[in-house]
Amino acid sequence: MVNKNQVSATDLILPYFVVSGQNRKKPIDKMPGVYRLSLDNLIKDVTVAKSLGINAVLLFGIPDSKDASASQSFSKTGIVQKAIKAIKDNVKDVLVFTDVCLCAYTTHGHCGILGPHNAKRIAHGDFIDHKKTLGALAKIALSHAEAGTDFVAPSAMAKKQVKAIREALDKNGFKKTKIMGYSAKFASNFYGPFRNAADSAAKFGDRSGYQLGFGDYKKALAEIEADIKEGADIVVVKPALSYLDIITRAHAKFNKPLAVYNVSGEYAMVKAYVERIAHSAKRKALEKNLVLEILTGIKRAGADLIITYHAKDVAKWLK
Ligand code: PBG
Repeated sequence: MVNKNQVSATDLILPYFVVSGQNRKKPIDKMPGVYRLSLDNLIKDVTVAKSLGINAVLLFGIPDSKDASASQSFSKTGIVQKAIKAIKDNVKDVLVFTDVCLCAYTTHGHCGILGPHNAKRIAHGDFIDHKKTLGALAKIALSHAEAGTDFVAPSAMAKKQVKAIREALDKNGFKKTKIMGYSAKFASNFYGPFRNAADSAAKFGDRSGYQLGFGDYKKALAEIEADIKEGADIVVVKPALSYLDIITRAHAKFNKPLAVYNVSGEYAMVKAYVERIAHSAKRKALEKNLVLEILTGIKRAGADLIITYHAKDVAKWLK
């Protein structure tokens, strides 16, 4: 009764990678147990997750084609827009969160639109055009809202992205669509398996021009504060395990729901560890204890919600 740090299924947000087509369930090489799903299989899987007590999902789309303006990201018939509708039409009482970013939709794999001026340098001669990027992010958010998403989750780390999205939503009658801001998102080495899954790796340069350097906690807190001022309803710290101090500091300082992203590399590390350390008969037990220890640690640090690829397993274990 007094243990407030127990993890429960309702704390969890389950990420999905969605692709076009029918009856597709393509394993992701570096993330055992995670798949790219077509809409029919997505609905089946979300239905199972819901029956286990998971109330929230986070959608990432893998488009059929990419271009310089990321046009598939805000298309009315884009894969995420379809997935939102499919879930809302077929599964009751699941909150839908949708990632708002460009990296899986641009040919170059960066989280913004490239242009010659006025922003962050990402490689020789290439810059992110801040204004165009904010415009694109607002368009994506709006298209997700029109499709019926509950939360848009901007993850491009473009300054004032929350403000731009909030204004666009309000202006178009989507005052009820909420924003989960990836506020403290570090330029991390733990994102590799995700980029493989979402086909979103940068083709040149890296993301250190717009994601946070991992040595600086004050900057991370300032980013969270800025997102709250701009209208974020939930703020995110990402990744989780190397950033538990940021979680604790943010929890102490701000009065907003805090979601923490237990990212792909952290998931892959658990899977690799279990595989290497335990004999096959003991692997499931080790994985369960290990994952519950990790997620409890993240909660104890101050997370209200945890975005994790372990969500379905955890919900099963807790039953
Ligand atoms: C960027 C984005 C990233 C992740 C989700 N959205 C990071 C990146 O590629 O820089 C990583 C999530 C994970 O590793 O599980 N839009």
